[in-house]
Amino acid sequence: MAHLTISPAHSLRGELSLPGDKSISHRALLLGAVSQGTTRIDHCLESEDNESTRRALRALGIRIQEEAERVVIEGRGLYGFKTPSSPLEMGNSGTTTRLLLGLLAGQSFSATLSGDASLSQRPMRRVTEPLGKMGADIQGPDGADHLPLTVRGGGLHGILYTLPVPSAQVKSALLLAALYAKEPTTVVEPIPTRDHTERMLEHFGAQIKREGPEITLVPGPELKGKDLTIPGDISSAAFFLAAAAIVPGSSVTVRQVGLNPTRTGFLEMLKQMGANVKSEIASLPLVARNDLELRNGAVSSNRSHDVDSWEPVGDVTVSHAPLKGIRVGPAAIPGLIDELPILMVAATQAQGITLIQGAGELRVKEADRIVSMATGLTAMGAKIQAEGDEIRIEGPVPLKGARVKSFNDHRTAMALAVAGLAAKGQTTIEGAEWIDISFPEFVEILESIRR
Ligand code: S3P
Repeated sequence: MAHLTISPAHSLRGELSLPGDKSISHRALLLGAVSQGTTRIDHCLESEDNESTRRALRALGIRIQEEAERVVIEGRGLYGFKTPSSPLEMGNSGTTTRLLLGLLAGQSFSATLSGDASLSQRPMRRVTEPLGKMGADIQGPDGADHLPLTVRGGGLHGILYTLPVPSAQVKSALLLAALYAKEPTTVVEPIPTRDHTERMLEHFGAQIKREGPEITLVPGPELKGKDLTIPGDISSAAFFLAAAAIVPGSSVTVRQVGLNPTRTGFLEMLKQMGANVKSEIASLPLVARNDLELRNGAVSSNRSHDVDSWEPVGDVTVSHAPLKGIRVGPAAIPGLIDELPILMVAATQAQGITLIQGAGELRVKEADRIVSMATGLTAMGAKIQAEGDEIRIEGPVPLKGARVKSFNDHRTAMALAVAGLAAKGQTTIEGAEWIDISFPEFVEILESIRR
Protein backbone atom coordinates (compact mmCIF):
# COMPACT_ATOMS: atom_id res chain seq x y z
CA MET A 1 0.00 0.00 0.00
CA ALA A 2 2.28 2.79 -1.17
CA HIS A 3 -0.64 5.11 -1.94
CA LEU A 4 -3.89 5.31 -0.02
CA THR A 5 -6.87 7.03 -1.58
CA ILE A 6 -9.61 8.24 0.74
CA SER A 7 -12.99 9.45 -0.41
CA PRO A 8 -15.21 11.68 1.75
CA ALA A 9 -17.38 9.99 4.37
CA HIS A 10 -21.10 10.64 4.63
CA SER A 11 -20.83 9.68 8.31
CA LEU A 12 -18.94 7.26 10.58
CA ARG A 13 -20.78 4.98 12.95
CA GLY A 14 -19.93 1.87 14.90
CA GLU A 15 -18.31 0.13 17.85
CA LEU A 16 -14.67 -0.86 17.71
CA SER A 17 -12.10 -2.89 19.57
CA LEU A 18 -8.58 -1.87 18.69
CA PRO A 19 -5.16 -3.56 18.75
CA GLY A 20 -3.06 -3.36 21.92
CA ASP A 21 -1.38 -0.16 23.06
CA LYS A 22 2.02 0.31 21.44
CA SER A 23 3.80 1.83 24.46
CA ILE A 24 2.46 -0.78 26.87
CA SER A 25 3.20 -3.68 24.48
CA HIS A 26 6.87 -2.66 24.18
CA ARG A 27 7.20 -2.47 27.95
CA ALA A 28 5.49 -5.83 28.54
CA LEU A 29 7.93 -7.54 26.16
CA LEU A 30 10.99 -5.86 27.66
CA LEU A 31 10.05 -6.48 31.29
CA GLY A 32 8.94 -10.05 30.50
CA ALA A 33 12.43 -10.68 29.10
CA VAL A 34 14.27 -9.54 32.25
CA SER A 35 11.87 -11.15 34.73
CA GLN A 36 12.12 -14.61 36.22
CA GLY A 37 9.65 -17.11 34.77
CA THR A 38 7.01 -16.94 32.09
CA THR A 39 5.14 -13.81 30.98
CA ARG A 40 1.99 -14.28 28.90
CA ILE A 41 0.83 -11.18 27.06
CA ASP A 42 -2.67 -11.15 25.58
CA HIS A 43 -3.68 -8.58 22.98
CA CYS A 44 -0.07 -7.53 22.41
CA LEU A 45 0.30 -5.14 19.48
CA GLU A 46 1.56 -6.66 16.25
CA SER A 47 3.05 -3.88 14.20
CA GLU A 48 6.45 -3.09 12.72
CA ASP A 49 7.60 -1.12 15.77
CA ASN A 50 6.61 -3.88 18.11
CA GLU A 51 8.36 -6.38 15.87
CA SER A 52 11.56 -4.37 16.37
CA THR A 53 11.35 -5.06 20.10
CA ARG A 54 10.66 -8.79 19.58
CA ARG A 55 13.50 -9.11 17.07
CA ALA A 56 16.00 -7.39 19.38
CA LEU A 57 15.01 -9.53 22.37
CA ARG A 58 15.34 -12.71 20.32
CA ALA A 59 18.81 -11.59 19.21
CA LEU A 60 19.60 -11.22 22.92
CA GLY A 61 18.69 -14.87 23.49
CA ILE A 62 15.10 -14.49 24.73
CA ARG A 63 12.57 -17.13 23.68
CA ILE A 64 9.33 -15.53 22.47
CA GLN A 65 6.47 -17.68 21.19
CA GLU A 66 3.51 -16.22 19.34
CA GLU A 67 0.28 -18.19 19.81
CA ALA A 68 -2.76 -16.61 18.15
CA GLU A 69 -3.51 -13.46 20.21
CA ARG A 70 -0.98 -14.38 22.93
CA VAL A 71 2.76 -13.81 23.23
CA VAL A 72 4.65 -16.03 25.66
CA ILE A 73 8.10 -14.95 26.86
CA GLU A 74 10.49 -17.08 28.86
CA GLY A 75 12.13 -14.49 31.09
CA ARG A 76 15.79 -15.00 31.92
CA GLY A 77 16.16 -12.50 34.76
CA LEU A 78 18.04 -9.20 34.85
CA TYR A 79 21.33 -10.73 33.70
CA GLY A 80 20.02 -13.44 31.33
CA PHE A 81 20.69 -11.77 27.96
CA LYS A 82 23.27 -13.40 25.74
CA THR A 83 25.82 -11.25 23.89
CA PRO A 84 24.32 -10.45 20.47
CA SER A 85 26.36 -11.67 17.50
CA SER A 86 25.50 -8.73 15.22
CA PRO A 87 24.07 -5.20 15.57
CA LEU A 88 20.54 -5.03 16.96
CA GLU A 89 18.25 -3.56 14.29
CA MET A 90 15.81 -1.03 15.78
CA GLY A 91 13.99 -0.27 12.50
CA ASN A 92 11.92 2.91 12.97
CA SER A 93 11.26 2.43 16.68
CA GLY A 94 12.41 5.14 19.06
CA THR A 95 10.75 3.43 22.01
CA THR A 96 12.61 0.15 21.39
CA THR A 97 15.90 2.02 21.07
CA ARG A 98 15.66 4.24 24.11
CA LEU A 99 14.16 1.67 26.49
CA LEU A 100 16.52 -1.09 25.39
CA LEU A 101 19.49 1.26 25.90
CA GLY A 102 18.35 1.43 29.52
CA LEU A 103 18.43 -2.36 29.93
CA LEU A 104 21.69 -2.73 28.01
CA ALA A 105 23.32 -0.10 30.24
CA GLY A 106 23.11 -2.71 32.99
CA GLN A 107 24.82 -5.51 31.03
CA SER A 108 28.54 -6.14 31.11
CA PHE A 109 28.75 -7.04 27.41
CA SER A 110 28.93 -4.71 24.45
CA ALA A 111 26.06 -4.32 21.95
CA THR A 112 25.50 -2.09 18.93
CA LEU A 113 22.09 -0.63 17.99
CA SER A 114 21.29 0.58 14.48
CA GLY A 115 18.14 1.93 12.88
CA ASP A 116 16.52 3.17 9.67
CA ALA A 117 17.21 6.57 8.11
CA SER A 118 14.57 8.40 10.16
CA LEU A 119 15.53 6.84 13.49
CA SER A 120 19.21 7.53 12.79
CA GLN A 121 18.42 11.25 12.71
CA ARG A 122 16.52 11.31 16.00
CA PRO A 123 18.22 12.66 19.14
CA MET A 124 19.70 10.06 21.46
CA ARG A 125 21.93 12.19 23.69
CA ARG A 126 18.91 12.83 25.88
CA VAL A 127 19.26 9.14 26.90
CA THR A 128 22.96 8.42 26.40
CA GLU A 129 24.07 11.37 28.54
CA PRO A 130 22.20 10.41 31.75
CA LEU A 131 22.98 6.71 31.20
CA GLY A 132 26.63 7.78 30.95
CA LYS A 133 26.23 9.59 34.30
CA MET A 134 25.06 6.28 35.75
CA GLY A 135 28.27 4.66 34.50
CA ALA A 136 27.44 3.17 31.08
CA ASP A 137 29.91 3.65 28.25
CA ILE A 138 27.97 4.60 25.10
CA GLN A 139 29.72 5.60 21.89
CA GLY A 140 28.25 6.86 18.64
CA PRO A 141 28.13 9.73 16.13
CA ASP A 142 27.85 13.36 17.29
CA GLY A 143 28.77 12.63 20.90
CA ALA A 144 26.48 9.57 21.08
CA ASP A 145 23.52 11.63 19.86
CA HIS A 146 22.71 9.37 16.91
CA LEU A 147 22.54 5.71 15.93
CA PRO A 148 24.47 3.51 15.46
CA LEU A 149 25.34 3.42 19.15
CA THR A 150 27.55 0.92 20.94
CA VAL A 151 26.83 0.41 24.61
CA ARG A 152 28.95 -1.36 27.18
CA GLY A 153 27.26 -1.29 30.54
CA GLY A 154 27.64 -2.62 34.04
CA GLY A 155 28.74 -1.14 37.39
CA LEU A 156 25.94 1.44 37.42
CA HIS A 157 25.36 4.05 40.13
CA GLY A 158 22.03 5.54 41.14
CA ILE A 159 21.54 9.18 40.11
CA LEU A 160 19.16 12.05 40.71
CA TYR A 161 18.16 13.37 37.32
CA THR A 162 15.75 16.12 36.27
CA LEU A 163 14.39 15.55 32.76
CA PRO A 164 15.39 18.52 30.56
CA VAL A 165 12.67 17.56 28.04
CA PRO A 166 9.39 15.94 29.02
CA SER A 167 9.98 12.45 27.60
CA ALA A 168 8.57 9.16 28.83
CA GLN A 169 11.19 7.33 26.80
CA VAL A 170 14.04 9.07 28.64
CA LYS A 171 12.38 8.54 32.01
CA SER A 172 11.81 4.87 31.16
CA ALA A 173 15.39 4.27 29.99
CA LEU A 174 16.66 5.61 33.33
CA LEU A 175 14.20 3.61 35.44
CA LEU A 176 15.12 0.42 33.55
CA ALA A 177 18.84 1.08 34.00
CA ALA A 178 18.10 1.82 37.68
CA LEU A 179 17.19 -1.86 38.15
CA TYR A 180 20.95 -2.54 37.78
CA ALA A 181 22.34 0.30 39.91
CA LYS A 182 23.92 0.00 43.37
CA GLU A 183 21.82 2.83 44.79
CA PRO A 184 18.28 4.15 44.21
CA THR A 185 17.72 6.38 41.16
CA THR A 186 15.34 9.32 41.21
CA VAL A 187 13.95 10.86 38.03
CA VAL A 188 12.27 14.25 38.41
CA GLU A 189 9.80 15.20 35.73
CA PRO A 190 8.73 18.86 35.85
CA ILE A 191 5.90 18.08 33.41
CA PRO A 192 4.30 14.63 33.85
CA THR A 193 4.64 12.13 30.99
CA ARG A 194 3.02 8.74 30.40
CA ASP A 195 3.64 6.49 33.40
CA HIS A 196 3.36 3.02 31.85
CA THR A 197 6.90 2.06 32.85
CA GLU A 198 6.32 2.91 36.50
CA ARG A 199 3.04 0.99 36.56
CA MET A 200 4.49 -2.03 34.82
CA LEU A 201 7.66 -2.11 36.93
CA GLU A 202 5.47 -2.14 40.05
CA HIS A 203 3.29 -4.84 38.54
CA PHE A 204 6.34 -7.06 37.93
CA GLY A 205 7.51 -6.55 41.54
CA ALA A 206 9.97 -3.63 41.38
CA GLN A 207 10.05 -1.07 44.17
CA ILE A 208 8.90 2.32 42.91
CA LYS A 209 8.14 5.40 45.01
CA ARG A 210 6.30 8.37 43.57
CA GLU A 211 6.28 11.70 45.36
CA GLY A 212 5.00 14.65 43.36
CA PRO A 213 7.28 15.03 40.35
CA GLU A 214 9.85 12.52 41.71
CA ILE A 215 9.93 8.87 40.74
CA THR A 216 12.42 6.69 42.61
CA LEU A 217 13.36 3.14 41.79
CA VAL A 218 14.97 1.22 44.63
CA PRO A 219 16.95 -1.68 43.16
CA GLY A 220 16.81 -5.13 44.73
CA PRO A 221 13.54 -7.01 44.32
CA GLU A 222 13.55 -9.69 41.65
CA LEU A 223 11.08 -9.13 38.82
CA LYS A 224 8.59 -11.98 38.38
CA GLY A 225 6.85 -12.96 35.11
CA LYS A 226 3.18 -11.98 34.81
CA ASP A 227 0.04 -12.62 32.80
CA LEU A 228 -1.13 -9.39 31.22
CA THR A 229 -3.83 -8.16 28.87
CA ILE A 230 -2.82 -5.06 26.94
CA PRO A 231 -5.54 -2.38 26.67
CA GLY A 232 -6.54 -1.08 23.23
CA ASP A 233 -4.38 1.79 22.01
CA ILE A 234 -5.89 5.21 22.80
CA SER A 235 -3.51 6.80 20.27
CA SER A 236 -4.96 4.60 17.50
CA ALA A 237 -8.49 5.21 18.81
CA ALA A 238 -7.89 8.96 18.52
CA PHE A 239 -8.06 8.83 14.71
CA PHE A 240 -11.58 7.38 14.68
CA LEU A 241 -12.77 9.50 17.60
CA ALA A 242 -11.57 12.66 15.89
CA ALA A 243 -13.21 11.53 12.66
CA ALA A 244 -16.51 11.14 14.55
CA ALA A 245 -16.06 14.63 16.03
CA ILE A 246 -15.62 16.34 12.66
CA VAL A 247 -17.88 14.42 10.26
CA PRO A 248 -21.57 15.40 10.79
CA GLY A 249 -23.92 12.58 11.75
CA SER A 250 -21.13 10.43 13.23
CA SER A 251 -20.87 8.51 16.49
CA VAL A 252 -18.07 6.04 17.26
CA THR A 253 -17.53 3.92 20.37
CA VAL A 254 -14.18 2.34 21.19
CA ARG A 255 -14.31 -0.48 23.72
CA GLN A 256 -11.65 -1.67 26.15
CA VAL A 257 -9.24 1.11 25.36
CA GLY A 258 -6.47 2.29 27.70
CA LEU A 259 -7.61 5.30 29.75
CA ASN A 260 -4.44 5.94 31.71
CA PRO A 261 -4.82 9.63 32.70
CA THR A 262 -1.33 10.42 31.41
CA ARG A 263 -2.60 9.50 27.93
CA THR A 264 -6.10 10.98 27.78
CA GLY A 265 -5.24 14.62 27.15
CA PHE A 266 -6.69 14.32 23.67
CA LEU A 267 -10.13 13.42 25.05
CA GLU A 268 -9.97 16.42 27.39
CA MET A 269 -9.13 18.72 24.48
CA LEU A 270 -11.88 17.29 22.27
CA LYS A 271 -14.31 17.97 25.13
CA GLN A 272 -13.04 21.53 25.47
CA MET A 273 -13.57 21.98 21.74
CA GLY A 274 -17.21 21.07 22.27
CA ALA A 275 -17.27 17.49 20.99
CA ASN A 276 -19.64 15.08 22.61
CA VAL A 277 -17.23 12.79 24.52
CA LYS A 278 -18.27 10.08 26.97
CA SER A 279 -15.68 7.90 28.64
CA GLU A 280 -16.06 5.39 31.40
CA ILE A 281 -13.26 3.59 33.18
CA ALA A 282 -14.30 -0.01 33.69
CA SER A 283 -11.31 -1.58 35.40
CA LEU A 284 -10.41 0.54 38.40
CA PRO A 285 -11.59 0.09 41.97
CA LEU A 286 -13.76 2.97 43.15
CA VAL A 287 -11.13 4.66 45.30
CA ALA A 288 -8.70 4.91 42.42
CA ARG A 289 -11.47 6.07 40.13
CA ASN A 290 -12.29 9.02 42.38
CA ASP A 291 -8.61 9.80 42.62
CA LEU A 292 -8.40 9.86 38.83
CA GLU A 293 -11.38 12.16 38.52
CA LEU A 294 -9.93 14.51 41.11
CA ARG A 295 -6.63 14.69 39.36
CA ASN A 296 -8.34 15.15 36.04
CA GLY A 297 -5.46 14.11 33.84
CA ALA A 298 -2.52 14.98 36.09
CA VAL A 299 -0.01 12.31 36.99
CA SER A 300 -0.36 10.46 40.28
CA SER A 301 1.57 10.87 43.47
CA ASN A 302 1.91 7.87 45.77
CA ARG A 303 -1.22 6.31 44.34
CA SER A 304 -1.79 2.70 45.17
CA HIS A 305 -3.86 0.73 42.71
CA ASP A 306 -5.25 -2.72 42.60
CA VAL A 307 -2.80 -5.11 40.94
CA ASP A 308 -5.50 -6.27 38.56
CA SER A 309 -5.99 -2.67 37.50
CA TRP A 310 -2.41 -1.86 36.66
CA GLU A 311 -3.70 0.14 33.69
CA PRO A 312 -7.20 1.68 33.61
CA VAL A 313 -9.33 0.49 30.72
CA GLY A 314 -12.77 1.57 29.53
CA ASP A 315 -15.05 2.59 26.70
CA VAL A 316 -15.13 5.94 24.90
CA THR A 317 -17.85 7.34 22.65
CA VAL A 318 -17.48 10.49 20.56
CA SER A 319 -20.36 11.97 18.58
CA HIS A 320 -20.28 14.89 16.23
CA ALA A 321 -20.99 18.39 17.54
CA PRO A 322 -19.89 21.82 16.31
CA LEU A 323 -16.31 22.45 17.48
CA LYS A 324 -14.62 25.62 18.64
CA GLY A 325 -10.91 26.54 18.72
CA ILE A 326 -8.95 26.12 21.97
CA ARG A 327 -5.51 26.86 23.43
CA VAL A 328 -3.29 23.86 24.19
CA GLY A 329 -0.49 24.93 26.53
CA PRO A 330 2.94 23.37 27.11
CA ALA A 331 1.90 21.46 30.27
CA ALA A 332 -0.76 19.59 28.29
CA ILE A 333 1.57 18.51 25.47
CA PRO A 334 3.01 15.24 26.88
CA GLY A 335 -0.52 13.97 27.62
CA LEU A 336 -1.42 14.16 23.95
CA ILE A 337 1.93 14.29 22.14
CA ASP A 338 1.06 11.50 19.69
CA GLU A 339 -2.45 12.89 19.13
CA LEU A 340 -1.32 16.39 18.12
CA PRO A 341 -1.38 15.56 14.38
CA ILE A 342 -5.01 14.45 14.56
CA LEU A 343 -5.88 17.34 16.90
CA MET A 344 -4.54 19.66 14.18
CA VAL A 345 -6.99 18.07 11.75
CA ALA A 346 -9.89 18.61 14.19
CA ALA A 347 -8.78 22.24 14.64
CA THR A 348 -9.25 22.92 10.91
CA GLN A 349 -12.95 22.18 11.43
CA ALA A 350 -13.34 24.22 14.64
CA GLN A 351 -14.74 27.74 14.81
CA GLY A 352 -11.98 30.25 15.63
CA ILE A 353 -8.31 29.90 16.47
CA THR A 354 -6.63 26.84 17.92
CA LEU A 355 -3.26 27.72 19.41
CA ILE A 356 -0.86 24.90 20.31
CA GLN A 357 2.16 26.05 22.33
CA GLY A 358 5.28 24.26 23.52
CA ALA A 359 5.00 21.50 20.93
CA GLY A 360 8.69 21.47 19.92
CA GLU A 361 8.99 17.73 20.63
CA LEU A 362 6.83 17.16 17.54
CA ARG A 363 9.83 18.19 15.46
CA VAL A 364 11.87 15.17 16.61
CA LYS A 365 9.31 12.42 16.06
CA GLU A 366 9.41 9.92 13.16
CA ALA A 367 9.17 13.05 10.99
CA ASP A 368 9.03 16.74 11.89
CA ARG A 369 5.29 16.48 12.50
CA ILE A 370 4.78 20.25 12.55
CA VAL A 371 6.14 20.42 8.99
CA SER A 372 4.47 17.21 7.78
CA MET A 373 1.02 18.18 9.07
CA ALA A 374 1.24 21.86 8.10
CA THR A 375 2.30 20.85 4.56
CA GLY A 376 -0.45 18.25 4.11
CA LEU A 377 -3.25 20.31 5.64
CA THR A 378 -2.23 23.47 3.78
CA ALA A 379 -2.44 21.52 0.51
CA MET A 380 -5.99 20.59 1.55
CA GLY A 381 -6.92 24.22 2.09
CA ALA A 382 -6.37 24.63 5.84
CA LYS A 383 -5.14 27.87 7.38
CA ILE A 384 -2.09 26.96 9.47
CA GLN A 385 0.86 28.97 10.69
CA ALA A 386 3.70 27.23 12.47
CA GLU A 387 6.86 28.68 13.88
CA GLY A 388 9.26 27.21 16.42
CA ASP A 389 7.19 25.22 18.87
CA GLU A 390 3.91 27.03 18.18
CA ILE A 391 1.08 26.11 15.79
CA ARG A 392 -1.86 28.37 14.99
CA ILE A 393 -4.84 27.01 13.09
CA GLU A 394 -7.83 29.04 11.99
CA GLY A 395 -11.11 27.31 11.27
CA PRO A 396 -13.44 26.20 10.08
CA VAL A 397 -12.30 25.74 6.51
CA PRO A 398 -13.87 23.46 3.92
CA LEU A 399 -11.07 20.96 3.22
CA LYS A 400 -10.53 19.86 -0.35
CA GLY A 401 -9.08 16.52 -1.44
CA ALA A 402 -5.41 16.69 -2.48
CA ARG A 403 -2.34 14.56 -3.09
CA VAL A 404 -0.34 14.65 0.15
CA LYS A 405 2.72 12.95 1.62
CA SER A 406 3.16 10.89 4.78
CA PHE A 407 6.74 12.17 5.25
CA ASN A 408 7.47 8.50 6.10
CA ASP A 409 5.48 8.94 9.29
CA HIS A 410 2.63 6.67 10.38
CA ARG A 411 0.69 9.25 12.38
CA THR A 412 0.92 11.92 9.66
CA ALA A 413 -0.45 9.36 7.15
CA MET A 414 -3.40 8.41 9.38
CA ALA A 415 -4.19 12.00 10.40
CA LEU A 416 -4.29 13.11 6.75
CA ALA A 417 -6.50 10.12 5.91
CA VAL A 418 -8.99 11.35 8.51
CA ALA A 419 -8.77 14.86 7.03
CA GLY A 420 -9.66 13.20 3.72
CA LEU A 421 -12.90 11.87 5.24
CA ALA A 422 -14.01 15.44 5.94
CA ALA A 423 -12.78 16.85 2.59
CA LYS A 424 -14.55 17.43 -0.69
CA GLY A 425 -13.11 15.15 -3.38
CA GLN A 426 -10.51 12.42 -3.09
CA THR A 427 -7.35 12.59 -1.00
CA THR A 428 -4.33 10.45 -1.88
CA ILE A 429 -1.67 9.83 0.72
CA GLU A 430 1.72 8.91 -0.68
CA GLY A 431 3.84 6.68 1.55
CA ALA A 432 0.87 5.17 3.37
CA GLU A 433 2.76 1.92 3.98
CA TRP A 434 4.30 3.66 7.02
CA ILE A 435 0.96 3.16 8.78
CA ASP A 436 2.14 -0.40 9.51
CA ILE A 437 4.62 1.00 12.04
CA SER A 438 1.86 1.25 14.62
CA PHE A 439 -1.50 0.24 13.13
CA PRO A 440 -1.60 -2.22 10.20
CA GLU A 441 -5.41 -2.63 10.56
CA PHE A 442 -6.11 1.12 10.26
CA VAL A 443 -7.64 1.19 6.76
CA GLU A 444 -9.75 -1.94 7.26
CA ILE A 445 -11.21 -0.58 10.52
CA LEU A 446 -11.79 2.85 9.00
CA GLU A 447 -13.75 1.33 6.14
CA SER A 448 -15.81 -0.77 8.60
CA ILE A 449 -17.32 2.35 10.23
CA ARG A 450 -17.89 4.35 7.05
CA ARG A 451 -21.65 4.81 6.43
C1 S3P B 1 6.51 6.92 24.04
C2 S3P B 1 6.74 8.20 24.47
C3 S3P B 1 6.59 9.38 23.61
C4 S3P B 1 5.71 9.07 22.42
C5 S3P B 1 6.10 7.80 21.74
C6 S3P B 1 6.01 6.63 22.69
C7 S3P B 1 6.75 5.80 24.97
O1 S3P B 1 7.86 9.76 23.14
O2 S3P B 1 5.74 10.14 21.50
O3 S3P B 1 5.28 7.54 20.62
O4 S3P B 1 6.29 4.67 24.69
O5 S3P B 1 7.38 6.03 26.00
P1 S3P B 1 8.84 10.73 23.97
O6 S3P B 1 9.27 10.05 25.19
O7 S3P B 1 10.00 10.98 23.05
O8 S3P B 1 8.04 11.97 24.22
